Amino acid sequence: MGEIVLSGIRATGKLHLGNFLGAVQNFVRFQNSGEHRCFYFVADQHTLTEPYDPEDLRQYLLEMVKDYLALGLDPERSTLYVQSSVPEITELTLYLGMLQPVGELLNIPTYKELVRKHPDNVNHGLLTYPVLMAADILGPKATLVPVGSDQVPNVELARDLAKRFNNRFGHTFVVPEMMRQMVKVPGLDGGKMGKSDADNAIEIKMPIPEIRQRYRTKGITDKERTTMDKPGDPYNRCMSVYPVHELVTPGETDTREIAKACMAAEIGCVACKERLVDSLAAMLEPFQARRVELAGKDDYVREVLHEGGKAARVIIAETVAEVRDKMGIVLY
Ligand code: ADP
Ligand code: TRP
Repeated sequence: MGEIVLSGIRATGKLHLGNFLGAVQNFVRFQNSGEHRCFYFVADQHTLTEPYDPEDLRQYLLEMVKDYLALGLDPERSTLYVQSSVPEITELTLYLGMLQPVGELLNIPTYKELVRKHPDNVNHGLLTYPVLMAADILGPKATLVPVGSDQVPNVELARDLAKRFNNRFGHTFVVPEMMRQMVKVPGLDGGKMGKSDADNAIEIKMPIPEIRQRYRTKGITDKERTTMDKPGDPYNRCMSVYPVHELVTPGETDTREIAKACMAAEIGCVACKERLVDSLAAMLEPFQARRVELAGKDDYVREVLHEGGKAARVIIAETVAEVRDKMGIVLY
């Protein structure tokens, strides 16, 4: 039997290359293999844990689902839904929370980072973020969770909760796995590309000339390669260009063409950036054309989410009924 694949993305802004290469590209591959049952959702409740604007949330959510659809997710083959359409996920969060030591939550790196970032917004939802995420994952009894490498601690916590639940109440959950290879896509400055740092990100909807301009002016390469005749070190010193070539340029994973040319000082950073944007254009143009077609189709998107929500709810409600029963909760 295939895997039960599940993943979600928060509705915090527009999808960028990191989200695509780190997450959604894999969602599409799993779906298209035809071997797996796939659940993909928008984590709208997770979005509430950080400062946000309600109108933006409503808008971003629909925009993100359009991105999902244009990137190849197909409601006939994957269940596409919004987290809040399945209230049983919230209920499961409460039950799983009873098995979750608070000390571990305080040690999650993303929590610590957000405490530093918004010291006056350390809310309860932020602390229990990974428990809600565990409920997302365990609700449909997912066996495989494709995410970028930044999400590893959160998925580890979901794995621990599954084990703890099984030990305490009898076998209920399969312990979900992550992918063997996970990527971290650098933004223009070489740090992790993220939605909250618009200056560092390449949105996948961005017109190609703008992407070209951004790489030309902001992409950071090998700082020690001050002239073109000096050999570069694409693997260790190139901050934001070569690592993306590896993910999008044909030849870079098997023959390493550009890396070799850089090490032999046969290609300069300017030409290397141009080639990167050519590769990105080949990848993004078909998506951008489909995305334009979906622009005015909010009603269609709402319908997809309504149907997906109903389908996900049936499955998750079954798990939650089993959990209630095992934990001794009776609905009168
Ligand atoms: P962001 O970090 O931009 O706010 P999310 O936290 O909603 O985005 O992440 C959605 C998915 O995209 C997750 O699976 C996450 O691991 C992945 N992801 C986000 N940024 C990157 C990146 N720079 N490289 C690889 N994967 C990423
Ligand atoms: N925390 C994830 C992120 O920021 C989004 C997410 C929420 C998620 N629930 C999930 C990812 C369940 C995978 C599975 O990217």
